[in-house]
This record gives sequence, C-alpha cells and structure tokens, in this order.
Amino acid sequence: MEDKIKTRLLFVCLGNICRSPAAEGVMKKVLADRGMDAHFEVDSAGIGNWHEGELPDSRMRKCGAHRGYSLNSRARQFATADFKDFDYIFVMDNDNWKMLSQKTNNRNDMAKVKMLVDYADNHPQAKLIPDPYYGGEKDFEYALDLIEDAASGLANRLMEGRDI
Ligand code: 4NP
Repeated sequence: MEDKIKTRLLFVCLGNICRSPAAEGVMKKVLADRGMDAHFEVDSAGIGNWHEGELPDSRMRKCGAHRGYSLNSRARQFATADFKDFDYIFVMDNDNWKMLSQKTNNRNDMAKVKMLVDYADNHPQAKLIPDPYYGGEKDFEYALDLIEDAASGLANRLMEGRDI
C-alpha cells in the first residue's frame, strides 16, 4: 500500500489554457525523467472560468509537442479549497498573485503562493511569465523557455530538500 504522503504542486494562471497547463505538463515530465514522480501530485487551474473543460490552447499544445510534452489537461477554475489541498501554488505574474490574495484572508494560504519565474535560474532578469494568449508563436516559445527553466530549478530544489 502507498502510505507515503505526496507533495502537491498546483500551477495557476489566468485562463488555465496557456501557461499553467504547460507548467503542469513540463513539471510532470521533469519529475518523471528524474524518477521523482511517485512523490508528487501536479495539477493546474485558472483564476477565470472562461475555458472550463477545454484542452490547452492549440498553439501551446503544438509548441509543447515540439519539445516532447503532451499537454492534455482540461481547464478548471481555481477553488478556495485548493489553498488547503495543495502544498505549493505557483503563479505566473503579479496579477495572478493579487487575484489569489483576494480569495483568502488566511496568511498561511498565501504563504504557499510563489512566483514560478523565481525558480528560472537561467533567466535571472525575468520578473514574470508573460501571458502569450494575445501574442504570436515567439511569445509561446518564450513562455515555454521560462517554464522549462523554472520546472528544472524547482525540481532541483525539491530533490535537494531546499526551501521552496
Ligand atoms: P493563460 O492565458 O492565463 O496563460 O491561460 C490566457 C488564456 C485565456 C485568456 C487569458 C489568458 N482569456 O482571457 O480568455
């Protein structure tokens, strides 16, 4: 019987069809490639509900497929219960952070919320993962560059038991 408690990671963006499902798919692969996947649950959610039930944006799916990721989660809206259900919640930008902070008065909830870009060790100047939704192919590629970098930095910290 599996009795080890898993660490639960949630990736959050605005629509849950571009950045956060990409982060979910990339993180799952990074953890699997390192043989760490049995110890983690990985999910994603959006602050809005406009795309509930949809697959990720076809542009992000295509961009991800070129890099070996299958991005096939279904969009869902962030729920207040997610603050309790997850150990760490990673957002893409300050707007995401602010919108989550408006959903709770509990300081412990917000202590779980981190900026994903802060783990992108090879992009020290980047302050956010920009929303590519209204952009072009280059914007999707850049978002994925940052997400891959951050997923790898995050996995390093998790593997080494460092602070998140
Ligand atoms: P995401 O991008 O937050 O990275 O999923 C967006 C997708 C859809 C919308 C906004 C951002 N939208 O307004 O529908």
